[in-house]
Amino acid sequence: MSEKAFQVLFVCLGNICRSPAAEGVMQSMVDEAGLSASIRIDSAGTEGWHHGKLPDARMREAGKARGYTLQSRARQVKRDDLQTFDLILAMDADNLRNLRALDPEGLHHAKIRPFCDYCTDHDEKEVPDPYYGGPEGFEKVLDLLEDGCANVLRQIAKV
Ligand code: 4NP
Repeated sequence: MSEKAFQVLFVCLGNICRSPAAEGVMQSMVDEAGLSASIRIDSAGTEGWHHGKLPDARMREAGKARGYTLQSRARQVKRDDLQTFDLILAMDADNLRNLRALDPEGLHHAKIRPFCDYCTDHDEKEVPDPYYGGPEGFEKVLDLLEDGCANVLRQIAKV
C-alpha cells in the first residue's frame, strides 16, 4: 500500500441511514485490520436535507446492536469529492446516476461504483432505502454492508 491513504466515500440519498452505516461498518473493519492510517472512510448524501445531523436513531440503534457506533454528521456530496476519493460507492442506482451526473465528462466514472458489486453473499443490486420502512429494513442494510465492506477491504488491502 502506498504512503498516501486510500480514500473511500460511501454515498446514499440523505446520508443519515445507509451511507453513515457503511462508514461505521467499514471503519470498524479497517480499525480491526490495523489499517486506519492507510485507509480513510467518509460518507455523504446526494441531497443535503439533513446537513449536520447524526444518523437516523433507528439506524444508530440497529448498528449499536451489532457493535457499531454511528456518529458521523450528514453532509452533501460535492464535485471535489470525485477528485479527492479513490473509490466512491453508491448505495442504489439513483445515487449512482446522480453521482455520475456531477461528472458529465466522465473523468471519474471508473471509480464511482455500485456498492452491491462488492457483495459476495447477496444477490441484491442495491442497498434498499430503509427510511420509510420497518426495523427489518435496517437489519437488511447492515447485512448487505457487512458483506460488501468486508470485500471492499480485501480488495483495497491487496493494492
Ligand atoms: P438514506 O435514507 O439515503 O439511506 O440516508 C434516507 C434518508 C432520508 C430520506 C430518504 C432516505 N428523506 O426522505 O428525508
